[in-house]
Amino acid sequence: MEETRARITREGIRIYEDADFAGMAKAGRCAAEILDLVAPLVKPGVTTGALDDFIRGEIERRGVTSATIGYKGYQHASCISVNHVVCHGIPGAKLLAEGDILNIDVTVIVDGWYGDTSRMYVAGTLPRKAERLIEVTHEALMRGIAAVKPGATFGDIGHAIQSYAEANRMSVVRDFCGHGLGRVFHAPPNVLHYGRPGTGPVLEEGMFFTIEPMVNLGRPETKVLADDWTAVTRDKSLSAQYEHSVGVTATGCEIFTLSPAGKFFRTWE
Ligand code: MF3
Ligand code: CO
Ligand code: CO
Repeated sequence: MEETRARITREGIRIYEDADFAGMAKAGRCAAEILDLVAPLVKPGVTTGALDDFIRGEIERRGVTSATIGYKGYQHASCISVNHVVCHGIPGAKLLAEGDILNIDVTVIVDGWYGDTSRMYVAGTLPRKAERLIEVTHEALMRGIAAVKPGATFGDIGHAIQSYAEANRMSVVRDFCGHGLGRVFHAPPNVLHYGRPGTGPVLEEGMFFTIEPMVNLGRPETKVLADDWTAVTRDKSLSAQYEHSVGVTATGCEIFTLSPAGKFFRTWE
């Protein structure tokens, strides 16, 4: 095993050490476990604020830290994005209704390492159109992850995601992207969920980042509401998102945010 490879690339991307993977895996597992535990609470008649209260409680109970509370003034332990909300939905008094689909996004800090992950949930019975959107979004993420290995480029990841979503006549959001993370929440590079093969920075062993595609049934354009957080589809079409935190290994990648319960994709089952 090499002594050290710690450095920053010309694009400003930090290269972490072998030993750092364990810290990320612990943080990622913690976030994923909380997303497992919230699943049974998601049903019609519950408020998104109640789900966030539960998540906050789980974070406190574990003695870890929420990365989002206090982040740029954000006051909540999760983002909960319902139906046409693309991302950064603020938990509150909103009641879930039968057939609503929602993304819950949690980021925790464990021993200084950030674990960032999100999944889709449904209140009640999943409508068929929403099911297709959710399936395509999950598969788009997994295809992006499958492109991760040393020597590939960030454009390869974006292309894998975009080409799959568009082949299914859905669109990829351009206004938000994945990000480097590690001992910080958001670091270079911007991980675009669209792109051309062979473009962008070259992946190297020891890079840590998220992939978190947002896919819409309609057009890709978004707008941010007056609360300065909530991003919605301009055409009000349904939107879905899945997010994993990953680290590049010698042969591919390690997913830090795998569900301990095996419930990442169809969290509601
Ligand atoms: N977890 C989100 C991400 O995937 C960021 C949320 S920032 C917040 O990058 F302030 F809105 F919570
Ligand atoms: Co993220
Ligand atoms: Co996130």
